[in-house]
Amino acid sequence: MSNPFETLQYKPVSFSATVITELMIPSYSNFGGKIHGGIILSLMDKVAYVCAAKHAGNYCVTASIDAVDFLQPVEVGYLVSLLASVNYVGKTSLVVGIKVVSENIKTNEVFHTNTSYFTMVAKDENNQPVQVPGLILESREQVRRFLEARSRKELKNNYKREADKAVMPEEDERWREMLSGERCTIAN
Ligand SMILES: CC(C)(COP(=O)(O)OP(=O)(O)OC[C@H]1O[C@@H](n2cnc3c(N)ncnc32)[C@H](O)[C@@H]1OP(=O)(O)O)[C@@H](O)C(=O)NCCC(=O)NCCS
Repeated sequence: MSNPFETLQYKPVSFSATVITELMIPSYSNFGGKIHGGIILSLMDKVAYVCAAKHAGNYCVTASIDAVDFLQPVEVGYLVSLLASVNYVGKTSLVVGIKVVSENIKTNEVFHTNTSYFTMVAKDENNQPVQVPGLILESREQVRRFLEARSRKELKNNYKREADKAVMPEEDERWREMLSGERCTIAN
């Protein structure tokens, strides 16, 4: 079947919105009997790829992940659903917002596990970043997400500029002063 959006320079958010649902089996658990954070991260990377590659119409790589805070532990036997959509597009990068929820199948209670933002970059056949289609925002919520993602990008750039300014002083005494109150000590 032909793809109606193949030649378009803009694609709607709904075109690439993706949901993955997976059963949490015992082999996914850690020593505490809860689901390994790495299993959830791997599923997030997978859904981010599907969503990004579908929008881009190209292979994509994960450039960065904006905060993964696990709000609730996930139990063995729960269903985990990852809801992903493109929140923002730059030139060759795009941001996929992912909401992760877990569900107790017996009680149908649903828990918000986390929400994170994956920046993905589209690549061409020569492994070079390639332009992604623009985004058609179809609701007020999608406009809000786009603007929030743009703010996060600006904040991250400012943060990096500020962090780069934090140079290490030459004098030992100055280090000691800067580290006072911290739970570390300088050997010899
Ligand atoms: C991410 C990557 C493609 C950036 O390549 P690059 O040559 O630095 O490309 P550019 O500087 O031209 O940046 C390309 C885009 O990526 C964005 N980008 C690059 N690094 C980024 C980062 N750390 N966080 C967010 N966005 C980033 C840039 O803002 C730019 O976006 P835009 O085109 O929409 O303005 C490259 O570093 C890479 O391939 N990294 C490895 C990715 C990978 O293998 N991921 C899987 C990890 S196992």
